[in-house]
Amino acid sequence: MSSDDADNNRRRFLTAATVVVGAVGTAAVAVPFLGSWSPSARARTAGAPVQADISKLEPGQQIIVKWRGKPVWVVRRDKAALATLPKVEDQLRDPESKDSVQPEYATNEYRSRKPEYLIIVGICTHLGCSPTYQREITADFQGGFFCPCHGSKFDFAGRVYQGVPAPLNLVVPPHYYVSDGVIRIGEDGVA
Ligand code: FES
Repeated sequence: MSSDDADNNRRRFLTAATVVVGAVGTAAVAVPFLGSWSPSARARTAGAPVQADISKLEPGQQIIVKWRGKPVWVVRRDKAALATLPKVEDQLRDPESKDSVQPEYATNEYRSRKPEYLIIVGICTHLGCSPTYQREITADFQGGFFCPCHGSKFDFAGRVYQGVPAPLNLVVPPHYYVSDGVIRIGEDGVA
């Protein structure tokens, strides 16, 4: 893929607002954007935190929230996805996230505050394309995220596999739970 293609790929994701990947992994369904909770456009550009309603997210689904012009993925991992995390560790480049970027409270096997929810910046640590969510677990790939630009693979915690160009795990942004059904991205909170 050329660098122009890579740029276009990235741009498409950066202009996306909110997308839900349906239960079968093929249907993309628009959900109401977070208009009433979002700060003004000027505040968003300056990097203000954004809130997202995750109360309707079903196991296996993903939403994409725009923060600082970047796509942030919120994935509700189901039991099958969580079960893959210990299994793939010996195939990962930085399984304990020692070299990768995440808040201290996400420096764990799940790279999150709550095992069920992954909140991660959807930009490849190689050259900045946006990987795609691969919900299906197959014999060849235990699911997670795949970057089509140069073939980097990440597990369901955004941890990069060995033998691919991306050098580090995907970045976990600061975040916390305002309540069980609402997260705030871009700020460290207490829960
Ligand atoms: S940008 Fe090169 S593998 Fe993702």
